[in-house]
Amino acid sequence: MDWGMRNRLSRFIKADTGRCLMLAVDHGYFLGPTRKLENPKKTIAPLIEHADALMPTRGVLRNCVDPAHNTPIVLRVSGGTSVLKEDLSDEAITTTMEEAVRMNVSAVALSIFVGSEHEKQTLISLSKLVSEGERYGIPVLAVTAVGKDMARDVRYLALASRIASELGAHVVKTYYCDDFEKLTESCPVPVVIAGGKALETPLDVFEMTYNAVTRGAVGVDMGRNIWQSDQPVAMIRSVRKIVHETAKPEEALDFFETLVAEQP
Ligand code: 5RP
Repeated sequence: MDWGMRNRLSRFIKADTGRCLMLAVDHGYFLGPTRKLENPKKTIAPLIEHADALMPTRGVLRNCVDPAHNTPIVLRVSGGTSVLKEDLSDEAITTTMEEAVRMNVSAVALSIFVGSEHEKQTLISLSKLVSEGERYGIPVLAVTAVGKDMARDVRYLALASRIASELGAHVVKTYYCDDFEKLTESCPVPVVIAGGKALETPLDVFEMTYNAVTRGAVGVDMGRNIWQSDQPVAMIRSVRKIVHETAKPEEALDFFETLVAEQP
């Protein structure tokens, strides 16, 4: 791997722990003004300093993130569908690698839809993006998007993650599932998990994060479970404690409750 590629990866997968906390704020690219992300600037402002990387689209990056901020950017570069359509898999690349370089990003991200109608199109997009990324030293993160008919089980998610890595993805983002270690063991590149829909309690989020990092994930690329929380800053700081210190879920909950109690 080229020096530039390794340097960019190490900007967000931290050398001291080998782990990463990415904050996903790209949801608007097909969901529009998602709850508590209606005003991305407001949502991002108190959280960005606690994240190892931020994952926005180019529109949110340009309009809602101060360019003087040094947090690495993992830029969402796929899209082309909206939640109003039945089939979300009809995605293409929406932002060129040249533009990503101009915005000084640390990686680019796209979704692949294994098993969906447009599987091939999204896998070819991944392959082409990797080839361009290799030319410029920009890592590619592949999100294993789950179509409406797909089970979020290890059989499906390990298949999609492995295919992403075989086509050259440098990082894979997927979902936590039972037998998760089978997925991480069969995927030769770093794996991060999405949080998915907001879980019922903070402890549920801490348990999922702990289980993921102790079963081989290098961290999380989490959105709704952080910024849809009533206590987003306490939430991101507590998830961070698990990701970088392997704090147990109960320790993270104590930390979370202390942070909440200390608030004015
Ligand atoms: C959509 C995405 C989102 O960024 C991803 O789902 C992460 O956010 P959340 O933790 O809210 O699920 O990649 O395809």
